[in-house]
Amino acid sequence: MKPSIIKLEKIQVSFNGEIILKELNLDIKEGEFVTLLGPSGCGKTTTLRIIAGFLTPEKGNVFFKGKKINDVPAHKREVNTIFQKYALFPHLNVYENVAFGLRVQKKSESEIKSKVIEMLKMVNLVAYIDRDVNSLSGGQQQRVAIARALANNPKVLLLDEPLGALDLKLRKDMQSELKSIHQKTGITFILVTHDQEEALSMSDTVVVMDKGSIQQIGPPEDIYNEPKNAFVADFIGESNIVPGVMIEDYKVKFYGKEFKCLDKGFEKMSCVDVVIRPEDIKVVPPESGNISGVITSVTFKGVHNEIIVDVEGFKWMIQTTENQEEGNKIGLLIRPDAIHIMKTSSYSSEVGDYSAFSDEFYEEQHH
Ligand SMILES: Nc1ncnc2c1ncn2[C@@H]1O[C@H](COP(=O)(O)OP(=O)(O)O)[C@@H](O)[C@H]1O
Ligand SMILES: [Mg+2]
Repeated sequence: MKPSIIKLEKIQVSFNGEIILKELNLDIKEGEFVTLLGPSGCGKTTTLRIIAGFLTPEKGNVFFKGKKINDVPAHKREVNTIFQKYALFPHLNVYENVAFGLRVQKKSESEIKSKVIEMLKMVNLVAYIDRDVNSLSGGQQQRVAIARALANNPKVLLLDEPLGALDLKLRKDMQSELKSIHQKTGITFILVTHDQEEALSMSDTVVVMDKGSIQQIGPPEDIYNEPKNAFVADFIGESNIVPGVMIEDYKVKFYGKEFKCLDKGFEKMSCVDVVIRPEDIKVVPPESGNISGVITSVTFKGVHNEIIVDVEGFKWMIQTTENQEEGNKIGLLIRPDAIHIMKTSSYSSEVGDYSAFSDEFYEEQHH
């Protein structure tokens, strides 16, 4: 296990009497790529500001390599922040923007030059060295901002929704570029995003937050395959979440029927949330399924069709390559490994039914 670089211990922050971060604990290892993921307003930026030193917690401690740094001011921390707004100096060219921090540190001209070139190589912008920053595209400006931050040799780079202003195609390119910069430099990256795909594809560790609390910490595969509660299951990808009862180990009941599953360790006959991902359900003839329902909508999504099925008033989402039509009666085949059991939580029955589903609604909830 790599040593800890940033540790947050029972951090509490309130604004105007409202608690924004509740007893937040987080331990980030040297060289790790960590992503804070959660809906707008859940406290991601506030957490970054605590780490950067722009904000002092009212309770709790911040450690850097095991040393308490609560009272160390921002400019003395070995941490640099990149924001969504690039905040470049508009009157300076690319070279001078990247050189800025080095000039403040009174480095020699030759040292500055070699560092600036090294950093611009890292972000593939050497050809733009003399350009006016205002003449660059959004993606290029963000790369200048990254080069400028890296020139200061930070031990930790904080990135607050750095790709949020870019269009989808460019954002994908910048995601792989950020990953490769992370690999080349070995610096610890802490990224903030509300985009679950971005979090899953880029990080070693994902920290899922909601309402000022951490809901789950883990590698992307665990977060997707083993969500801890209905909030995480719903926020990460699409999920059908139905109430169930755990009969015994490997046996769960929902819709009045018993299903085999791979989960164990729950109290016998306890209420649970049952998660089934849309891509894990097989569409079969009604009589061959575990349950059956009537299709209420079919949306072509390119790789697959997204089907909404009414099963006794609860709407399921299925992703399938089968062609089906609205009004068809189908069976849903749910194999043991398609089922994931979670403890009930305050989020139970709030999420996981696609009754109110439409793309507009989805956009509202996730952006
Ligand atoms: N300086 C501030 N004063 C008052 N409220 C704030 C301040 N900063 C953040 N908040 C509130 O704290 C909550 C979390 O904010 P933030 O950390 O920016 O969320 P996120 O980055 O996850 O969208 C929000 O409700 C926000 O309105
Ligand atoms: Mg924010």
